[in-house]
Amino acid sequence: MDRPLNDIWGIILAAGSGTRLAEASGGVRKQYLEYKGAPLFWHSARTFSRVAGVKGLVFVFPPDDAKAMEKEVRHFFKVEDLGVEWRVCAGGERRQDSVRNGLGALPRACGGVLVHDSARPFVSAGMISRLIDALNEGARGVIPAVEVTDTIKRVDGDTVAETLDRAVLRGVQTPQAFETALLLEAHERAEAEGWEVTDDASMVERLAEVRAIEGERGNVKITTPEDLARLEEERVT
Ligand code: CTP
Ligand code: MG
Repeated sequence: MDRPLNDIWGIILAAGSGTRLAEASGGVRKQYLEYKGAPLFWHSARTFSRVAGVKGLVFVFPPDDAKAMEKEVRHFFKVEDLGVEWRVCAGGERRQDSVRNGLGALPRACGGVLVHDSARPFVSAGMISRLIDALNEGARGVIPAVEVTDTIKRVDGDTVAETLDRAVLRGVQTPQAFETALLLEAHERAEAEGWEVTDDASMVERLAEVRAIEGERGNVKITTPEDLARLEEERVT
């Protein structure tokens, strides 16, 4: 089924507190860490804006500095030069609260949405395009997934309980793309029924089929001090 969706927007999540990195980053929230002349969140914004199907971007910042960041994005980063529509909103306590606020900032006409962790600055324009293509071909939810290379075991405390079948396991990334109405419905259900999740597909899977497409190994999430050290090494070379 081919059904080009109306206005596809990206939600750039940058409202986390970066606790696992706080010590190594000197307290700087990781979305603001400088990499090759720009903070991490800005790398994703630039990449999204280069994809033809992306109509606009919602930036979600921590509530205590969303106002200041809106000014910064406008005047310092010159967001208008990206050539897409844009909005800023304040995030929430949990990642899913930030996504919900981001959804609330979308224009009514937005038919498809890509939710992205700004802690993944290496997302490629090609992958964003492939996600949008899958949506336009009729998928209601699409996520990038990569085969796992480690053997994965379930542990109980420090005792191995079970070894899982690696062949059917995938590590999933962002952006995750959905029909906007479906993702909104999933978030409403999550709120009503108290679902706690770490990605959006976990909610949508309960309501509709979600398709997995090939992710990219380079699309890592900067999460731990080791990830930061690798980023810093790259910056000097
Ligand atoms: N995020 C968000 N709002 C939250 C929590 C997370 O917008 N309340 C965003 C982060 O900014 C990040 C992405 O979601 O880009 C993925 O989350 P994660 O890697 O867990 O980042 P943090 O929550 O900031 O880090 P930590 O869990 O170590 O505190
Ligand atoms: Mg987190």
